[in-house]
Amino acid sequence: MTTAIYPGSFDPITNGHVSILRGGLVAFDRLVVAVLQNPKKSPLFTVDERIEMLKEAVGNDPRVEIDTFEGLLVDYAKRKNARVVLRGLRAVADFEYELQLANMNRHLNEEVETVFIMAKDAYFYVSSNLVKEAAKLGGDVSKLVPPGVNERLLKKLGTPT
Ligand code: PNS
Repeated sequence: MTTAIYPGSFDPITNGHVSILRGGLVAFDRLVVAVLQNPKKSPLFTVDERIEMLKEAVGNDPRVEIDTFEGLLVDYAKRKNARVVLRGLRAVADFEYELQLANMNRHLNEEVETVFIMAKDAYFYVSSNLVKEAAKLGGDVSKLVPPGVNERLLKKLGTPT
């Protein structure tokens, strides 16, 4: 039974994340979606809100656990008895950062392997940051995020429909 940790900020979850998650469930038996609690970042959504949105997007799938973590990812993976970290790759721009992250994680614990899954092409350029920016300026992002997320974006950002 292989468990993979799928870590991220998920502020908020996008359809790109959902496509990685679905891919992860094809490749692995169990996924732990781990939301980073990072006091340095100033997220739009609280950790609790992000977890709620993830739960809505995942539904009732017993193969998926949704959790939070702080500190080093490799230490969290160890606590969870997981040796695989799942990350999504979108456009080329992700590559450099993901390479750094995977190499640092390998340096910190060489027993933890990072595995990449490509996002579905329709979401290749979708990021949480761009979705927030577009929504803030009144753009329609309903096709880029799960329905519950779109509602929350509209509520939080007070965007006229
Ligand atoms: O969705 P993101 O913001 O790209 O996710 C980044 C994340 C959470 C995977 C990364 O920042 C992380 O793992 N943070 C925890 C601290 C850590 O272990 N950093 C990597 C080695 S310094």
